[in-house]
Amino acid sequence: VSKVDGNLPLAGRKVVISAGATSEPIDPVRYITNRSSGKMGAALAQVATMLGAETVVVAGQMQVALPTTVRRVDVTTVAEMNQALNQEYITADIVIMAAAVADYRVAEVAPQKIKKQAEMVLKLQKNIDILANLGARKQHQFLVGFAAETENLVANAQQKMERKNADLIVANDVSRRDIGFNSEQNEVQILRRQKPPRVVAKADKIEVAKEIFKVIIEDGNFNTT
Ligand code: CTP
Ligand code: CA
Repeated sequence: VSKVDGNLPLAGRKVVISAGATSEPIDPVRYITNRSSGKMGAALAQVATMLGAETVVVAGQMQVALPTTVRRVDVTTVAEMNQALNQEYITADIVIMAAAVADYRVAEVAPQKIKKQAEMVLKLQKNIDILANLGARKQHQFLVGFAAETENLVANAQQKMERKNADLIVANDVSRRDIGFNSEQNEVQILRRQKPPRVVAKADKIEVAKEIFKVIIEDGNFNTT
């Protein structure tokens, strides 16, 4: 942590973080979304600015404030989040997908409020995978994803790292109620390409964010310039 606290290894770098939850409309008054407070994303944004980076947060619904030093781009749907990230991508040095991205959108959004009925069937369509998409077009960017799993944490997260061409995956056991989601704390395993995973014991999200950046700086060679 000394390196992280001591100097500004990310000065002159641009860090783009997606945070919070996307949501997809059903009709003018209803939507579907994912569970996410945005706390992990906000902690990452705070640490990124502490490290001297120009920090952009592409924000879905968040229950916490962001540091005023970050540039905030608000989005609602996955399509909007994808567009915003694409726009920031070329000039980004580090991109972190901390957002809880809705895997599906409603196939046909009703223009009028749907009246309640005894039964209702919603047809959902798979959304674009933003991280995989960025991974497929990766140039100089260091790409970080999260993996929310309820079983086979490391194996599933490892697969995601490869499938999405991420440089690092933060694996999160979301079956535990004492960490993750709305909690102040988190416990993660940081999976990396050529090295064994780094286990981060249960700690405040800000401490977890510092550990994540430590690994990013190490693996991405950001401390050499
Ligand atoms: N992600 C994304 N676009 C999506 C879905 C997820 O960019 N449409 C990103 C998330 O922000 C996260 C990573 O991909 O960084 C993994 O998300 P996760 O939900 O754990 O994995 P999925 O690939 O969606 O697989 P599943 O939900 O089936 O486990
Ligand atoms: Ca998902």
